[in-house]
Amino acid sequence: MKILVLGSGAREHAIILALRAEEATHEIFAAPGNAGIAQDASLVSIDANSPVEVTSYALENAIDLVMIGPEAPLVAGVADALRERGIPVFGPGKAAAQLEGSKTFAKRVMDAAGVPTGRATRAATRAEVEAAIDEFGAPYVVKADGLAAGKGVIVTSDRDAALAHADTYLPTGAVLVEEFLSGPEVSLFFLSDGDHVVPLSPAQDFKRLLNDDEGPNTGGMGAYSPLPWLAESFGSEAAFVEQVTREVAEPVIRQLDAEGTPFIGLLYAGLILTEQGVKVIEFNARFGDPETQVVLPRLIEPLSELLLAAASGHLEDCAAPTFRPDATVTVVLASEGYPQSPVTGRALSGVDAAATVDGVHVAHAATAAGEGGLVATGGRVLNVVATGGSFAQARSRVYDALSRIELEGGQYRTDIAARVE
Ligand code: AMP
Ligand code: GLY
Repeated sequence: MKILVLGSGAREHAIILALRAEEATHEIFAAPGNAGIAQDASLVSIDANSPVEVTSYALENAIDLVMIGPEAPLVAGVADALRERGIPVFGPGKAAAQLEGSKTFAKRVMDAAGVPTGRATRAATRAEVEAAIDEFGAPYVVKADGLAAGKGVIVTSDRDAALAHADTYLPTGAVLVEEFLSGPEVSLFFLSDGDHVVPLSPAQDFKRLLNDDEGPNTGGMGAYSPLPWLAESFGSEAAFVEQVTREVAEPVIRQLDAEGTPFIGLLYAGLILTEQGVKVIEFNARFGDPETQVVLPRLIEPLSELLLAAASGHLEDCAAPTFRPDATVTVVLASEGYPQSPVTGRALSGVDAAATVDGVHVAHAATAAGEGGLVATGGRVLNVVATGGSFAQARSRVYDALSRIELEGGQYRTDIAARVE
């Protein structure tokens, strides 16, 4: 198959590595990609957010499948343009991508579909924000309505900090004030062809910058999969997945279809397991980053077949995806100053040495080829991924590999999956 992958993060590298691991040999193209992706795919210099450029490239090069990694091309309408020209594309159109792009849209769809989520109030003025946060009480949760790359949310017991956060976003639109939900978080991905859904295996993401979940929210600093502790509350991981499929994914997909905006692509359910049951904190319209880096290495069936089946409306014909039980851990190496103001342009070395550790591979994010070797070009630089027979083994491998990488000012959490047996 000729496959074009849009995006430049470690998530896209993980997707490409999964396609490469299949028995079939694919021709893989990536736009814009990065220095690591360049070793596994041909880089294409088109604007991944331009519906016209992506469609022309796909037509001229007889691309069989376009896989959209990040949210920006989705909200820019790239999937709509491809679909109009009959090109199979994995990723929802602009309208359905609002599930991620607008938190008020997501809340409305959840209400209509009867999906369990926290209470929320939309507030357009300072006075409305104050009234809403006082009604819900501390800890306060205030969210920007649109896309904010993981920085739009504050969870704090400091009322002034909550109000200051609202003040940052109010000039550009309403904010959402939410009920605080307490419990472990789980990310669960579903492939959807607009009608049918199939679940992947759950993962847990570490969103805060620092150990012990301190510091600011980030795009994600590490993840692991599977989640053995789910068996304690749900009997088994499979029972949990079945429940979320029935209570969350299927009703949302049915609702969007009924509204004339079918969701074709990856439905990412961000969940909190509260004492009152499983509740949705957010949806994303794309694979999660870094969770994908720990879910896809465990996938047994060929990824390309699943993506193509979803893109062409034939998911019903696919067997449910199955996963190796291997403990899989990923840790993000970030630049100094991430997430506020990452320092870029610094030399990055030891990546090849890291990849020689047993069970380890590296998924690149913000890397470029410089004169003397690799250079870090952004906030989240790369992911080290390790599998093992136990989480203790996967963790020791991941941190052994990280200790071989050098990046001045580089930062990573040392407690990823530390509490998993
Ligand atoms: P979001 O961008 O909506 O996923 O929020 C980012 C992170 O903020 C989540 O992963 C949670 O850790 C936290 N968060 C968001 N909403 C809530 C909530 N209602 N209660 C508690 N924590 C939340
Ligand atoms: N890991 C969180 C996200 O992908 O949004």
